[in-house]
Amino acid sequence: MVENSAALRRRIEELKREKNAVILAHYYTSPEVQAVADFLGDSLALSVEAQGVDASTILFAGVHFMAETAKVLCPDKRVLIPCPEAGCSLAESCDAAAFAAFKAQHPGHTVVSYVNTTVGVKALTDICCTSSNALRVVESIPREQPILFGPDRNLGSYIKKLTGRDDMVIWNGACHVHEEFSLEKLLELKRQHPEAKVVAHPECRAYIVEAADFTGSTAAILDYCGRSDADTFIVVTESGILTEMRKRYPSKHFIPAPPDDPSCGCNNCNYMKMVTLENIVACLENGAPEIVLDEETRRAAERSIRNMIAIR
Ligand code: 13P
Ligand code: SF4
Repeated sequence: MVENSAALRRRIEELKREKNAVILAHYYTSPEVQAVADFLGDSLALSVEAQGVDASTILFAGVHFMAETAKVLCPDKRVLIPCPEAGCSLAESCDAAAFAAFKAQHPGHTVVSYVNTTVGVKALTDICCTSSNALRVVESIPREQPILFGPDRNLGSYIKKLTGRDDMVIWNGACHVHEEFSLEKLLELKRQHPEAKVVAHPECRAYIVEAADFTGSTAAILDYCGRSDADTFIVVTESGILTEMRKRYPSKHFIPAPPDDPSCGCNNCNYMKMVTLENIVACLENGAPEIVLDEETRRAAERSIRNMIAIR
C-alpha cells in the first residue's frame, strides 16, 4: 500500500512535468493528496494563487465550485478536476434559479455570496466573499445599502451580528459538516481539557461559535494556533485541517471535536475525500475531466470574484 502510494506520487510528479501542470489543493483533502500539491490553501488563497499560475494546466484537488472558480479567473488555462462528483452540500443548498427568484424579491439589495456557490449563483452576485474576508466585504458596503447574503445562514448570521447590519437578508443554506458538531460533546471536551482553546469555523451553528475562543476561516484558525500561547486546541471544523496544524506546530496538541452522531463521520467532508492519488493520475493522463463554462456566465461570475479580490 505504502509502495503503491509512493509509485503513484512518482507518476504524478512525472505527469506534472510532462503536461506542464500544477496541483492546487484545499486543506480538507486527504494527507496523501496534500503531499502532491504545489500549493495548499484555503479557498481565498487558492482563488488568488490560481491567477498567478505559469503552467498551462491547473489540476484542482478540491470540490467542484473551487475548480470552477479557478476556471472563471483563468479562462485561457485548462482546469482539470479529478473527481467532478465532488460537490459541496452548501453550494448545492443554493440553486441558481431559486436564488435569482430570491434576488428578484429583494430589489435594490447588494448581493454578497460566499465562494461556496456554483458559477450560476456567482453570476447573480455583486461581490463574492470567503470566510476569510466576509467581514471586510460587508463592511465595504455603505451602511444605508441593504444586503442580501447567501448561501450560508451561519456565516451570514455571524457577520450580521458582528456588523450590526440588521437589514441583512440571508439565504437559508448550510454545510452538512459544520452544522453537525455537538455542543454537549464540545463542552465535555472543554471540561476534560480546561487549558485548551476552542477554535471554530463560522459555518458552525451560533451556539458552537459562542463556545469558541476563536472563530475564523481555515487560514485564520491556522494562524491563531501558531500565535496563541496555548498548547492544546479543540478544533471545530473539518478534520483535514489537522494535517496542516500538526505539520506546522508539531509540539502542540490538536483534538478534533466530534459530531452529534459519530457514525456519520461528519467532521470529515466526504466530498473533499473523493479526490485520490488514483483519480489525480487518471485525470492528468487523460487531460479530463475538464471544467468548461459558458462564456457569458463566466464573465458575470468573474466580475463578482474580482470585486472580492480588490477588497481581499
Ligand atoms: P475556507 O474558506 O476556510 O477555505 O472554507 C471553505 C470550506 O469549504 C469550508 O467548509
Ligand atoms: Fe462544502 Fe462543507 Fe465540504 Fe466545505 S466542508 S466543501 S462547505 S460540504
